[in-house]
Amino acid sequence: MLSTDVQAKEEHPEHRLKQSDEIFRLLVDSVKDYAIFLLDPDGNVATWNQGAERIKGYAANEIIGQHFSRFYPKEARESHWPERELEFATKEGRFVDEGLRVRKDGSSFWAYVVITPLRDQNGVLRGFSKVTRDLTERRMLEERTRQLNRELRGRVTELLESQRLVELRTLELQKLSGELLRVQDEERRRMARTLHDELGQELVALKLELDSATGSEFKGNRNLIQATELASSALQKVRNMSYLLHPPLLDESGLLPALHWYFEGLQSRGQLRITFEYRPILFPRLPREIETAIFRVIQESLTNIYRHAETQDARIELIQETDFVTLRVRDFGRGIPDLKFGTGIAPGVGISGMKERVKQLNGELRISRAE
Ligand SMILES: Nc1ncnc2c1ncn2[C@@H]1O[C@H](COP(=O)(O)OP(=O)(O)O)[C@@H](O)[C@H]1O
Ligand SMILES: [Mg+2]
Repeated sequence: MLSTDVQAKEEHPEHRLKQSDEIFRLLVDSVKDYAIFLLDPDGNVATWNQGAERIKGYAANEIIGQHFSRFYPKEARESHWPERELEFATKEGRFVDEGLRVRKDGSSFWAYVVITPLRDQNGVLRGFSKVTRDLTERRMLEERTRQLNRELRGRVTELLESQRLVELRTLELQKLSGELLRVQDEERRRMARTLHDELGQELVALKLELDSATGSEFKGNRNLIQATELASSALQKVRNMSYLLHPPLLDESGLLPALHWYFEGLQSRGQLRITFEYRPILFPRLPREIETAIFRVIQESLTNIYRHAETQDARIELIQETDFVTLRVRDFGRGIPDLKFGTGIAPGVGISGMKERVKQLNGELRISRAE
């Protein structure tokens, strides 16, 4: 019967309440991550837990009885912000805030604070509970994340900006090289005309003078005969130079006649044997800059074959399709060194000039080595 007695005593409601009160106090006291404490209705600290000591730096006996406003920065204290928080909490039943708080050593930290008014059964205000969490680390992480994001956005903007600049410069450069090619063609045209029309005409006049002198009293004069021959050959050279600089047929009669004239010249001098095929048979006139570009590309390709290919045989195909022209130049010589792998010679101005010309007309230049 004794045991029953003891049990009955232990289960006494008041005793149980006291016991759970005790456990609850232990719980609150042992929490380390939150400062949990009570304020009296005037805001003086009434209890203190381990978390509060850890976060704020005061031992219980140092702070109990002190006004809680000492946890706030000076400006907040002066504007009576702590008292306002209590008023809010009293009125609203709860007050939540994030802000700077001050530790015992004067250092500050970023706190998340919840204040709850505590009332007895009759509704009389008995004090406040205050739970504070130190968010300094989280805030620092957030701030760091924000900063990294800002930096990233900055970098992306910079990158986009420089990309735009490169595109702009590339465009400018392309425009410039197009302009250069046009100026070069124009200059060649001008020089060809000057050679032909001025120097050529003067040589023609000289030759006429010499011819008429040969028919007169100086007939049979060896020096005169030699002078006439020199004048003829100079005239021929000037004409050739002029035509190579810019074949007059190119402007007047178009690409095909100019090419025929050019190939004949090369073949008659025994420089190259050229097979030329083109379609359609009635080859149309093309815009001037396209005709010039095709002529110059063929000229440079044949010059390269003559200089580098170690063969005399070249084959040219020119095909006009609906909205593009295909030109193929092939030789049967030693083959171009592999430019891609850097084993051969770097492309000179000839090849890059051809590339640029073709690119200016939205075309593409491909160089390959037939195995
Ligand atoms: N048909 C070809 N056969 C063999 N090698 C060639 C041929 N065309 C060009 N090459 C090579 O490519 C190089 C670059 O040609 P190019 O840009 O026209 O410059 P360049 O003719 O002034 O050397 C040449 O030096 C030559 O080594
Ligand atoms: Mg060349």
